Amino acid sequence: MEYRRLGRSGLKVSELSFGSWVTYGNQLDTTAARECMAAAWDAGVNFFDNAEVYAAGKSEEIMGEALKKMGWPRLKYIVSTKFFWGITEGPNERNTLNRKYLLHGIDASLKRLQLDYVDLVFCHRPDPDTPVEETVWAMHDMVERGKALYWGTSEWPASAIREAWDIAERHHLRKPVMEQPEYNLFHRSRVEKEYAPLCDEIGLGLTTWSPLASGLLTGKYAKGIPADSRGAIPRMKFLVGDLTDKSKNEVVAKLGVVANELGCSLAQLAIAWCAANPHVSTVITGASRVAQVKENMGAAEVIAKLTPEVLARIDAIAGSAAD
Ligand SMILES: NC(=O)c1ccc[n+]([C@@H]2O[C@H](COP(=O)([O-])OP(=O)(O)OC[C@H]3O[C@@H](n4cnc5c(N)ncnc54)[C@H](OP(=O)(O)O)[C@@H]3O)[C@@H](O)[C@H]2O)c1
Repeated sequence: MEYRRLGRSGLKVSELSFGSWVTYGNQLDTTAARECMAAAWDAGVNFFDNAEVYAAGKSEEIMGEALKKMGWPRLKYIVSTKFFWGITEGPNERNTLNRKYLLHGIDASLKRLQLDYVDLVFCHRPDPDTPVEETVWAMHDMVERGKALYWGTSEWPASAIREAWDIAERHHLRKPVMEQPEYNLFHRSRVEKEYAPLCDEIGLGLTTWSPLASGLLTGKYAKGIPADSRGAIPRMKFLVGDLTDKSKNEVVAKLGVVANELGCSLAQLAIAWCAANPHVSTVITGASRVAQVKENMGAAEVIAKLTPEVLARIDAIAGSAAD
């Protein structure tokens, strides 16, 4: 496993990391979640991604329990959380990045995680009802109070990230360091077009999500929806159209030929492809079982095999299918 700088910050993150969306508290109980984290750790992962909203706080509790049980030195791992949607009802508790919610939310997350601080904290979506300046000050204060070390955004328009950065620059506040966007072979333009200038100009780091497009890029949906897959989970129904899309599955089958030639699995090829983008600081992987974690971590070995020629072949197969 290689470690990359998180954008222009001094923090080194493993190029592959591990997150808990959908799985923790839904598919994985505390023991299975801990085993997946341990498998990722054994492969060299030092960053574990989480969010307040994942399983309505349960995911943070599970990760907190796992971290406590494993007893890893705090200096050696990086944990994140994110705020926006909220987990309780009220005018200042849902879909907001206002100061009150953010400064309350971090205390509640730290309690669930049983940690004194998180390393990374993300504003999970933009909030049109809160001035960016208010959010920047709140994130700055969160960092100054020692509750988080670095802050960033997730799926914010580039213009809003730039606005936040400029406000922080003007007032000598903590700047946003990273953005967390979706990035995979079917979803490219935000990372490759919208964010690329920010990576170059202000040194924004990217912690990217859904490298397998929720499993589509493993080839497992070629013949419909396996009963034990994300696509079969009732509340994930919104993914089914994409997961079973005929033309996307044909692209995946063609990518399988390239994976075969490289001697790796489709999942490894798709994850390595994300990591091959030099603007990506870490690719956040997800898994519902230990065997998947082990397979996915093998992608670290595949990155070096993605020569310009191989990347051009992949582009020729998948480029026109991506948004
Ligand atoms: N910031 C955001 O808005 C945001 C949004 C989404 C995710 N994220 C972060 O990114 C992380 C990764 O996202 P993701 O879970 O969507 O990633 P993904 O890699 O696209 O999908 C992971 C899912 O694919 C299946 N899978 C994984 N490896 C496999 C393999 N080798 N073979 C077959 N199936 C495999 C598993 O589901 P099944 O086994 O159940 O089919 C697994 O849970 C999340 O945990 C979260 O931390 C952030």
